[in-house]
Amino acid sequence: MVETGVTNNFVPGLEGIVAAQTRLSSVDGQAGELIIAGFPVEELAGQATFEETVYLLWHDSLPTAPQLAEFRAALAARREVPATTMDLLRAAASQKVAVIDALRMAAGTLTLAEPDELESQALALTAAFPTMVAAYWRLLNGQEPLAPRPDLGHAANYLAMLFGQTPSAEQARGLETYLNTVVDHGMNASTFTARVIISTQSDLVSAAVGALGALKGPLHGGAPGPALDMVFEIGDAANAETYLRQKLAQGERLMGFGHRVYKVRDPRAEVLSAAAARMFQGNGHQALYQLSRQVEQTAVALLAEYKPGRNLQTNVEFYTALLLHGLGLTPDLFTPTFAIGRVAGWLAHCFEQQQLNRLIRPQSVYVGSKDRRWIPLEQRV
Ligand code: ACO
Repeated sequence: MVETGVTNNFVPGLEGIVAAQTRLSSVDGQAGELIIAGFPVEELAGQATFEETVYLLWHDSLPTAPQLAEFRAALAARREVPATTMDLLRAAASQKVAVIDALRMAAGTLTLAEPDELESQALALTAAFPTMVAAYWRLLNGQEPLAPRPDLGHAANYLAMLFGQTPSAEQARGLETYLNTVVDHGMNASTFTARVIISTQSDLVSAAVGALGALKGPLHGGAPGPALDMVFEIGDAANAETYLRQKLAQGERLMGFGHRVYKVRDPRAEVLSAAAARMFQGNGHQALYQLSRQVEQTAVALLAEYKPGRNLQTNVEFYTALLLHGLGLTPDLFTPTFAIGRVAGWLAHCFEQQQLNRLIRPQSVYVGSKDRRWIPLEQRV
């Protein structure tokens, strides 16, 4: 049915439609500029700890030293997850459920201890994500989960819970840069999902679970695994052109390229490429980094040839794959690790939405028929 007041201005994918005002991040797709709570991503990502970035998003100012110490402690104190959550993860591991799906299921079990205090709920959710992912990944690989380390920061603790070793300062910095880079990004699909859910006066856990479902798809947060597979399949820069031409000729999309908003190189790709270069210098995988640069250049050139006028450039996922691989993460951890960063952004958007809430409820234009007549079952052919 045509709803009252609807015009015929249907915009597929809501492209270009403004759905919120936000002070959290600004994405300029023409200039290739990302501002996070006032800071260019290039300035924030490599310097802030993840805790500082989360505080900045939730409080709109950088924390002082005492505020940061308190915030870090509050987050660290909430890293243990309920026994029910761990039981569910064990059951999921016995069924070999994918890590991102196990995270979605486990996040749904989080009954929030402090239901009236929004920041406590948000801290509990943010703190639990790395614990759930690391515990599940170990169970999936036949290992027992490791207890969280309250002495470590959010990023370092995640790596320690995965691998059972204290990460080096460079590794922790590399992951911290990644998490800061992906923490918020305008009205992306998962953030929009979170805002829609919270606009119904639902709860933060429901918003995070819904957002996880949106993040998982390959057109959003599910691209880095396939992007890395592509680099490994190419194997040698000499094979890049033939391989990529074949994919494009078959009408396939190259994972890690193209973006709804960016029509120039995604600024996050630059930040992550620089972070990957620093990390790969120290760990002997320099050849893989060089190969990725060559694959990127060839892909961008071929995309211009096959899709002229589309301005398809490298997006965040291409170097996400490389950086996370360099940290020892397996591809099934890439999207869950994206979620570990982005959950803080989802929650910040939930706070914003709650402040000036108006139920998000767009309209649709009916294009079906209007003159059908009921046919009894026995007469249908
Ligand atoms: N490889 C090949 N062709 C592409 C690619 C790509 N990566 N991206 C877009 N195109 C083509 C489309 O086939 C289409 O061609 P056509 O006009 O001949 O049909 C044209 O470019 C425009 O594509 P749209 O789908 O309209 O562009 P949209 O803005 O919806 O796409 C998207 C953005 C979904 C990210 C797309 O570029 C894509 O699928 N990329 C690959 C997946 C990926 O890397 N996802 C991660 C995105 S970053 C993030 O969410 C964190």
